[in-house]
Amino acid sequence: MRTPPISPDAPWLAPLAGYSDLPFRILCRRMGAAAACTEMVSAKGLLYGGGGTERILATHPEDEPLVVQLFGSEPETFGPVMDDLLARGFRWFDLNSGCPVRKVLKSGSGAALLQRPETLLAVAKVMVRAAGPGAVGVKIRLGFQLGEEVFLDLARRLEDLGVGWITLHPRYARQMFSGQAHWDRLAALVAAVRLPVIASGDLFSAEDAVRCVEQTGVAGLMFARGALHDPSIFARYLALRRGEPLAPADGAFLAGIVGEHIRLTREFDGSLRSFRKIRSLIPRYARGLRNVRALRTQLLCCLTWEALEETAAGIEHLEPADGPQPGEDAAFPLTDPYVPE
Ligand SMILES: Cc1cc2nc3c(=O)[nH]c(=O)nc-3n(C[C@H](O)[C@H](O)[C@H](O)COP(=O)(O)O)c2cc1C
Repeated sequence: MRTPPISPDAPWLAPLAGYSDLPFRILCRRMGAAAACTEMVSAKGLLYGGGGTERILATHPEDEPLVVQLFGSEPETFGPVMDDLLARGFRWFDLNSGCPVRKVLKSGSGAALLQRPETLLAVAKVMVRAAGPGAVGVKIRLGFQLGEEVFLDLARRLEDLGVGWITLHPRYARQMFSGQAHWDRLAALVAAVRLPVIASGDLFSAEDAVRCVEQTGVAGLMFARGALHDPSIFARYLALRRGEPLAPADGAFLAGIVGEHIRLTREFDGSLRSFRKIRSLIPRYARGLRNVRALRTQLLCCLTWEALEETAAGIEHLEPADGPQPGEDAAFPLTDPYVPE
């Protein structure tokens, strides 16, 4: 089977709508991500040319191996879309069957597929037929409603279809991001299928990820919110696996990451839209340092890439805060709402 690299020593960047764009993927790869997923992209949008879909597919030779994540609910849409993506050189794909956002559920896509397993399987079958055995993963949750556990049966049936891997975010869709991820269900899935299982859910630090692998026996893992808050989580995790933990990120280290993210955004996109986006993301990285509010205000006054780089470099001089700062929780929610284009 031809899959992207899947191993505990090959952490992935998760699909993150609004965030796992080309510059962020390259940043995470440079920090040690062994593979990365695109933001979810609508199969219908690709077929009919919806706004934003092409931007999501922007890539670069350094952006390999890349997994294109699709969402949709009509098997007949996926045939031509897969043919087109394969013709354009994309090799690996993922079917989003876990997104709990209302806009996606309304179209019968994302986690709504968990309630219609025959449709989910039909879509996966079309994808596997087009891309070949092993080239398609499916990202699922435990089930739709609390207690309606469908993932084990579903995963066994997906295995029979030639799917290459299953990513499980072990929460129910109705839970969104509340409560704790049920890592014990990851272990149950590992025991139930021969397919590689990739863990997603509450991997906020290198330590979390090492524990998750040890406790569940998963074949691989992906960082999501953990990477948004600290893209060096990949390097930290890999170092910890080798028994060489990295020192905590100080201002100088963070300034280096932020500078890199700004440069990559400018190089690989450079639009006004991407300028505004990266400007709003920078304070996230300075979380845990003093005077982040003042930094945010200064950033809003930056109107050029140069000014942005210069202001962001100031992160180097911010001192660590003693504890959470006023307004920090509201400014950096761990459960960012995400809305696909
Ligand atoms: C801002 C944001 C955007 C996300 N976008 C997607 C997406 O496009 N496709 C998907 O399958 N999951 C998406 N997810 C879910 C993550 O990939 C991941 O499964 C989830 O956040 C659990 O991992 P974590 O607890 O380590 O963050 C998103 C999550 C967040 C917070």
